[in-house]
Amino acid sequence: MPKTYEPLQSVKWENGELVLLDQTKLPETTDYMTLTTVKQVWDAIERLNVRGAPAIGITAAYGVYVAVRKSEAETSEALLEEVKKQAAYLATSRPTAVNLFWALDRMTATARRAQAEGQTPEQMKEMLLTEAQRIQKEDEEVCRSIGEYALTLFEDGMGVLTHCNAGGLATAKYGTATAPMYLAHEKGWRLKVFADETRPVLQGARLTAYELQQAGIDVTLICDNMAAKVMGNGWVQAVIVGTDRVAANGDVANKIGTYGLAVLAKAHNIPFYVAAPLSSIDLGTPTGEQIPIEEREADEIIRGLGRQVAPADIKVYNPAFDVTPNEYVTAVITEKGIVRAPYTENLRRLFGQK
Ligand code: MRU
Repeated sequence: MPKTYEPLQSVKWENGELVLLDQTKLPETTDYMTLTTVKQVWDAIERLNVRGAPAIGITAAYGVYVAVRKSEAETSEALLEEVKKQAAYLATSRPTAVNLFWALDRMTATARRAQAEGQTPEQMKEMLLTEAQRIQKEDEEVCRSIGEYALTLFEDGMGVLTHCNAGGLATAKYGTATAPMYLAHEKGWRLKVFADETRPVLQGARLTAYELQQAGIDVTLICDNMAAKVMGNGWVQAVIVGTDRVAANGDVANKIGTYGLAVLAKAHNIPFYVAAPLSSIDLGTPTGEQIPIEEREADEIIRGLGRQVAPADIKVYNPAFDVTPNEYVTAVITEKGIVRAPYTENLRRLFGQK
């Protein structure tokens, strides 16, 4: 029986407050946190209470409003300066997902416009809240559109493998990589989804497996090192992942482990798709080499599974993301259509540039 997707919402503006679903506690506990200061918003992004590129952007947008809503600035010029300062602060919370900077730029541009139009500080604040809500609403539409394009590449009954969580929890709704899974489910198709557990933070196990199972989608959890075996078994006809940033040449930053998966997909002749909203495409970053890759604390690996699983003082390398070179990417699926190589040319065209 096809189901309509009614997901958990990771970011909410509720009764005049910013409320986040604490993703660090899922799937054991469904806990919400109300954030009233910009420092709390910064911490929630850095500590992964909210994560996933679009959800980080949406949260940061609300964070700007939270930061200035009680400001006593008497002029719109003074309030604009505060907005710039708070946006710069929030921009230091995580480095890789470009959606963070994209959303903060939109908020700053809104404040600039309000000031140029001669709005009062109170009117500027209202415009900032409206802009954050617009960013969230648009993301839902964008994800649905990505899902519709992606579905044209899928067939009923096929096996699809995904990595990390580019799901509803990482976005306003539907997810990016998971959007075609939800849409397929709505129309009664039976996809067989394989979710990589995604060490070290286990977004695949804790979040993707959880949200797809909740929606009634056929999902099988595998450890990251089982992907080659599953592909070798002939169970996977497409790999689809999300992204934190696509460089101008089509190189793709995403959760650590994505690059290996892309190489495996090529070795098995399986298409490797990247679901990317335009807000994740960064024409200002020429290639993957310039994408800043976040390195996180050793404890995520040493104590990541809830107990100590390695010597306490072991040397650890813990990059949170890797970059998949564009030659492994079969297509980038956006809300405006499906883009294939040559990426430099075709991504520019997507933004109306020659
Ligand atoms: O460290 P995370 O959990 O924020 O990493 C998330 C990912 O890598 C996602 O695949 C990416 O942000 C796309 S979410 C639609």
